[in-house]
Amino acid sequence: MSSWKRKDLTGLDELDADEITFLLDTARAFKGVGKRSLKKVPALRGKTLVNFFVEPSTRTRTSFEIAAMRLSADVVNISATASSLQKGETLKDTALNLQALQADIIVLRHSSPGSSRFLAERLESSIINAGDGAHEHPTQGLLDIFTIREKFGRIEGLNVAIVGDILFSRVARSNIFGLLKLGAKVTLVGPSTLVPKSFEKLGVRVIHRIDDVLAEADVVNLLRIQHERQRKEYFPGLGEYVALFGLTKARAAKLKPSCLIMHPGPINRGIEIDSDVADGAQSVILEQVTNGIAVRMAVLYSCAGGAGVPA
Ligand code: CP
Repeated sequence: MSSWKRKDLTGLDELDADEITFLLDTARAFKGVGKRSLKKVPALRGKTLVNFFVEPSTRTRTSFEIAAMRLSADVVNISATASSLQKGETLKDTALNLQALQADIIVLRHSSPGSSRFLAERLESSIINAGDGAHEHPTQGLLDIFTIREKFGRIEGLNVAIVGDILFSRVARSNIFGLLKLGAKVTLVGPSTLVPKSFEKLGVRVIHRIDDVLAEADVVNLLRIQHERQRKEYFPGLGEYVALFGLTKARAAKLKPSCLIMHPGPINRGIEIDSDVADGAQSVILEQVTNGIAVRMAVLYSCAGGAGVPA
């Protein structure tokens, strides 16, 4: 197993395959902690983590908090509305003040692409990107890849289709970077306005008919339409989107029985995914959420300088 030498995690684009594999292997070891009656190890005892979320979150914020508590770290949660960003303080000044308050790790969700890297280059505290605009969401990418690897035992050679609003999706970017580095074949599917051909330069295939990918896919990862980041209409209406790109029951019936149905959440039932399909036997949506704890434990532990997984 290679070692981890970074204090920050700002994106999967900057990691090589060995580093991604290291985090996945570390997460696999940490997953065992969640199966014990006493779900806690002393690995980050004495460390302080600040969850600083300037955008809404259910899964990511809660799972970073649970991950940090399982590692015995002290956790403080602050939000945009409860912070002095409201009074005109800059992000950098706010972060410097959190560092002055002896935060060892700052987990940041922010609407500006590059905000985590900006802080990582200016602070000694570890900075973990919990989603920066439409740029990256590296721990979501890792937990998606972890879930796929856990089910198939490998990533190399798998056909992964990512369907929906790719243009505005940080989850899509982190998945693309990570999956390609580990040897998956990635197909992006959606309307040409949200999945332009220019994505092909990343090394993926781009198609505009979901029916063309159903029979071959090992994984279908569905994305929500990111209305909050769109500044104009990218397709005529939700009805047309469902008709052309929704994973309906009829479409799900064309998938291989072994195909995983994934979604990073929050899901919009009846739009990108039929409600019964979301709850069906091939769906691993809630397993993804559970795996997020182990993946985030691995990221926090590794960036805080841990070596090997504590017993
Ligand atoms: N997948 C994800 O990032 O969900 P939250 O916005 O609830 O954190």
